[in-house]
Amino acid sequence: MDAQELLLNRHSNPRLIAPAPAGEQLNTLFRAGLRAPDHAGLTPWEFIVFEGEQRNALGDVLAAAAKAQGESEDAIDKARHAPLRAPMVITVVAKVKEHGKVPRLEQELSAGCALMAMQMAAQSMGFNGIWRTGWFAFDRGVHRDLGLEEQDQIVGFLYLGTPEVEVRRLPERDPAQFVRYFGR
Ligand SMILES: Cc1cc2nc3c(=O)[nH]c(=O)nc-3n(C[C@H](O)[C@H](O)[C@H](O)COP(=O)(O)O)c2cc1C
Repeated sequence: MDAQELLLNRHSNPRLIAPAPAGEQLNTLFRAGLRAPDHAGLTPWEFIVFEGEQRNALGDVLAAAAKAQGESEDAIDKARHAPLRAPMVITVVAKVKEHGKVPRLEQELSAGCALMAMQMAAQSMGFNGIWRTGWFAFDRGVHRDLGLEEQDQIVGFLYLGTPEVEVRRLPERDPAQFVRYFGR
């Protein structure tokens, strides 16, 4: 798949089955993430991989957070099972560093770019995934249980696997509705 075709056809897929990327393909995906734009070379990224049985560990963390928030039993159960919706979940963390010229937002954007690069790399190899967040991404209890530091921020959970079914036709968007040439 050439680069332009990939850019113009990038899409998510929430219906994911095994296999997930592994071995050299998974490594390529990480290397794509590590090419994210990065102001001042801070490399503010961490990718925490949950695959196989370890997805239950993430489910336990999410369920504990839901419980701590006083959510219903149903919601707690849903949280516990959330990571099982794909064979692999990568939690993408912005490891935010103190820097005079690079504010937090830029480092979080960089981590978001890394996440999208990994999704696109997955799609280019015949896998796919979906970027999810939800309130869990901002919950201090989740951060603590995943071993994050005070200044870190989860920018997303990248669910990855093989598409069970292909998504329907992608919406065509007209650039003219989003673009404004200043001064014209
Ligand atoms: C920061 C961010 C957080 C998101 N969180 C969720 C989420 O929690 N659940 C969800 O279904 N989609 C979420 N999405 C949207 C999906 O990743 C996806 O982009 C959307 O379903 C549209 O599909 P497409 O990527 O094929 O256009 C999020 C997107 C972004 C950028």
